[in-house]
Amino acid sequence: MAIRDLASLPKRDVYRILSSLVIPRPIAWITTVDGAGRVNLAPFSAFMGIFGPPMLAVSLGRRQDGSLKDTHRNLRERGEAVVHLADRPLLEALHASGEEVGPEVSEVERLGLATLPALRVAPPRLAEVPVALECRLNREVELGPATTLILLDVLVAHAADRIYDEALDCADASRWQPLARLASAGQADVDAAVVAAREAFGHWSKTPGHVRARYLYAIARHIQKHSRLLAVLESMDNGKPIRETRDIDVPLVARHFYYHAGWAQLMES
Ligand SMILES: Cc1cc2nc3c(=O)[nH]c(=O)nc-3n(C[C@H](O)[C@H](O)[C@H](O)COP(=O)(O)O)c2cc1C
Repeated sequence: MAIRDLASLPKRDVYRILSSLVIPRPIAWITTVDGAGRVNLAPFSAFMGIFGPPMLAVSLGRRQDGSLKDTHRNLRERGEAVVHLADRPLLEALHASGEEVGPEVSEVERLGLATLPALRVAPPRLAEVPVALECRLNREVELGPATTLILLDVLVAHAADRIYDEALDCADASRWQPLARLASAGQADVDAAVVAAREAFGHWSKTPGHVRARYLYAIARHIQKHSRLLAVLESMDNGKPIRETRDIDVPLVARHFYYHAGWAQLMES
């Protein structure tokens, strides 16, 4: 058993260890509005439901420069939010909305997401998202110099017909794929990948160099073509900032494939 005394560890290690243990975490995708009526959208995975009084708790950090995130400032100013739970088709948009941009930028407009008016609060709800909870700020609890726990009262719950079982009067989890944050794939996923790689190797080792090069170039091109999605998955998997996976990790993977494709082409010459 691995045992870690969290009090003795640096902040970064505490985050990595604890966020890999408390899983899966649903992601609150929150719309708020500022004083000028601009709509802000951002994801937060330090998030839970409290169902006695219908409430939600979200932990908000600060920006790199110590200032409040737009969501936090808007909640302080206007006291209202819509908390969404998104599913698989919205993965990329959800992640893209987490990039730090100035308050003048509306992520909803930037990502071209359609909205509908909420019933009881000013922020709109996202039309394509299966679950939207209209909320009012109950209170803020300061947890340290850079972390605030936000408690929200849930006023109205919206669920798309496609996920809702009218007979049971509750949502049916088998009808959608809610996004959650996980620290890693399970043992079964890793085992399946190793078995597939072993099977493929027999055939691969008999394949001539110029044919290998063709495959390797094709993989490199696919990595480049889907680099945005891969960067998002990598960030969600290991918690790195999107800038690092998008600008460094994924381009490096593509370059490795190009490099080995070049060698494969030269193998028989
Ligand atoms: C999947 C995901 C989960 C996140 N979870 C949190 C979180 O729990 N708390 C937090 O402060 N920031 C979290 N972030 C970072 C914020 O979304 C990010 O700082 C965002 O720029 C805040 O936007 P705003 O300034 O428009 O409110 C998360 C980002 C992503 C992509």
